[in-house]
Amino acid sequence: MTFSINRRGLLAAFGSGAGIGLAPVAGAAPLVTSAAFLHGVASGDPSADGAIIWTRATVPVGKSGDVPLTWHVARSASGKPVKSGTVTATAAADNTAKVDVSGLSPATEYWYWFQSGDGKTTPKGRFRTLPTGKTDQLVIALATCQLYPGGFFNAYEDMAKLKRLDAVVHLGDYIYEYGADGYGAETGKKTGRLPDPSHEIVTLDDYRRRHAQVKADPQMQMAHARAAFICVWDDHEVANDSWIGGAENHDPAREGDWRARKAAALQAYFEWMPIRAPRNADEPAAIYRSFEFGDLATLAMVETRLLARSPQIASKGTAPDAAEVAEMLAARQDPSRELLGAQQMKWLEGVLAGSVKAGKPWQMLGNQVVMARVPGPDLRKAVGDEAYEAMVARLPESYRTLIAKAQIAYAQGLPFNLDAWDGYPVARERLYAMLRRVGANPLAFAGDSHAAWANNLHDDSGLRIGTEFGTTAITSPSYGSLLPGLGKIIAQQSPEVAFCDQDLKGYTIVTLSPETATAEFVTVSTVTSRQFTRGIAARYEARKGTLRAIA
Ligand SMILES: [Fe+2]
Repeated sequence: MTFSINRRGLLAAFGSGAGIGLAPVAGAAPLVTSAAFLHGVASGDPSADGAIIWTRATVPVGKSGDVPLTWHVARSASGKPVKSGTVTATAAADNTAKVDVSGLSPATEYWYWFQSGDGKTTPKGRFRTLPTGKTDQLVIALATCQLYPGGFFNAYEDMAKLKRLDAVVHLGDYIYEYGADGYGAETGKKTGRLPDPSHEIVTLDDYRRRHAQVKADPQMQMAHARAAFICVWDDHEVANDSWIGGAENHDPAREGDWRARKAAALQAYFEWMPIRAPRNADEPAAIYRSFEFGDLATLAMVETRLLARSPQIASKGTAPDAAEVAEMLAARQDPSRELLGAQQMKWLEGVLAGSVKAGKPWQMLGNQVVMARVPGPDLRKAVGDEAYEAMVARLPESYRTLIAKAQIAYAQGLPFNLDAWDGYPVARERLYAMLRRVGANPLAFAGDSHAAWANNLHDDSGLRIGTEFGTTAITSPSYGSLLPGLGKIIAQQSPEVAFCDQDLKGYTIVTLSPETATAEFVTVSTVTSRQFTRGIAARYEARKGTLRAIA
């Protein structure tokens, strides 16, 4: 049988990417030497002497078992391997394979690939080991929110072409849980990007198939082959607006026990993502970890969803009345409400204090939800009565009512997004106090919001704490598609927000020097066609204590 990149035929021959009648007992499965590589390669969690490398072997229909592979790492695309070894893509792990490569040199680009027993070879991927000692520059890309039915991953195709790219920081929503009639379905139907499976994902097999679909995407494969990904999940890797004990989009009556769903989602995540195994098998959600970029920066990846997050404050109906808004605002101030939790905070303080003590000028936070204060925008005030009426008149009736009610709640002081740090202001204040205590120069990143941001962060006393760069979605729809120009209104009305774009899709390039951190908000002209042009929505430069737009 021939294997080609045209995967429609292959998926039919090899199944859709999920395990095929597997006996999930390690070591008990028969060996399969014939395999295809339909999901490319990926690398992640780079260190100064290595990285995780990943692939997935697809066994022919009718067969199941463990697939022995060899792996190789070389200094160039055509070079001889400097490291090689064997690994088994076990049936128990959905025939995914991961190797934690070590013993390499720092600040060096490496190429890697896998091979099956019958001589099939994966495409070659690249990663760069982390620098040690004096480091003048760092270039990373921020990515988030890649709803598969939401459109083509053009942003990844562009990212893959970057000449310099040290690593990709992925802030979550790598997959979404919805079925074919769910979020973004309209675009999915237009572009033929329907989710697999077609129902909302709940079981282990469901989550595996959804990950497989994303990894089969050729533009996704380009980006994975280009650089190591440093990933953390957001909510949709399990279910919308998740917290420690459930999610907005999880109904125990219909979908069963939350813990079982979470365990299934996390198992598939660890199988399919180029991330190190959890440090604590009893608490796989504890994926917070840190990366050192020589003497220039520390990156602390934090977990804000499944470990400690208190439930979101939400209206019991579609929109709250004045009495309920008052209740919600009071509940928001409850000091017991957590986002990171005490244990993670303690770990974070240790990491950041160590970074400051080592004299590193930047402390980066790989964080999921927007940290800045964003008041609910007053649309009428921003555009005037007439333009406001015209703006909402274009929307379907249900949205008109919702926006009208939201405007009243916002006027009472309800923030724009209660699922963001704005829903956890006391926990945010605890974080800010810790950042001041250790003397950090924080550069926080955010995904989740499907919008691009450059924000100044202040504590309750008005003291400037640091800068936040939020990256827009790769494909997921934004509020800007309903209300074009919403980002500008938010920026005008939010003292902390210097820049906000709610309209465009893309990713963000962050370039660090000892003095400056620059964000370049890269945009793609469309996600409904593979033909696109690249743009730059804005460039912002942060220094210790300042943030400004640059040309
Ligand atoms: Fe998202």
